Amino acid sequence: MSTDAAIAQPLEAPAGLKIPRHLAVIMDGNGRWAQARGKQRTEGHVEGVKALRRMVDLAIRYGVQHLTVFSFSSENWRRPRDEVNFIFGLLHRFVASDLATLIRNNVRVRIIGGREGLDSALIRLIDDVQAKTAANTGMELIVAFNYGGKGELVEATRRIAKAVAAGQIAPEDITEATIESALYTDGVPDPDIIVRTSGEQRVSNFLLWQGAYSELIFVDENWPDFSEGTFLKVLETYTSRNRRFGGIETRSS
Ligand code: FPP
Repeated sequence: MSTDAAIAQPLEAPAGLKIPRHLAVIMDGNGRWAQARGKQRTEGHVEGVKALRRMVDLAIRYGVQHLTVFSFSSENWRRPRDEVNFIFGLLHRFVASDLATLIRNNVRVRIIGGREGLDSALIRLIDDVQAKTAANTGMELIVAFNYGGKGELVEATRRIAKAVAAGQIAPEDITEATIESALYTDGVPDPDIIVRTSGEQRVSNFLLWQGAYSELIFVDENWPDFSEGTFLKVLETYTSRNRRFGGIETRSS
């Protein structure tokens, strides 16, 4: 999908293929993709944005309702300053170049993560893209930026503790729903699938609470190589899994 792209056309998924309501992706391997080609790591991130556009387009066409992508973790601050700045610049460029297409495709954008360490221009950009797409009724694109699952739970705990201290809620009234509504993903169904590219098999502090029952699917391609073929393989793997959520065998989930 690019600025001049036509509206993504919904298509009929191949018969028998289960489509996740919420697909979450750890877009890993940009640096390795670049290094394997003798390029700078930053070039890998540029290709990563192209793969992200393809992913958004695929998710819309196949009828995924929520797509969450991990684009900068709270641990990524440990990278060289130049690379961090480059990824921040990519978020600006992604929004600038793709906002019109996202709006044309009726996509709602939510950017989740901590706001500390982000400059005021970036915070304005985040607020702006969220406001401009808030009324859209199509797919929700959730960009995890400066995100960490543990940090999200710390923030949620603080929010609930404040409500307890203010006498708005009693400790014994805290339920899973209380915690869910204090997370950045309030109102979003838990991810059915968490995909990670590049062959690494870790969750890396992504959606720790929300991913409790997600199907983990690891693919060997680096993120810039993620194609429609890879996407279909992910859907086939998901379709073949038997989700029990702690219960007993059922094929109807
Ligand atoms: C992981 O690859 C990727 C990242 C840390 C950045 C992900 C960013 C994008 C895909 C671009 C889209 C970004 C925005 C802001 C819309 P890596 O660098 O960890 O790769 P490596 O493990 O091979 O070094």
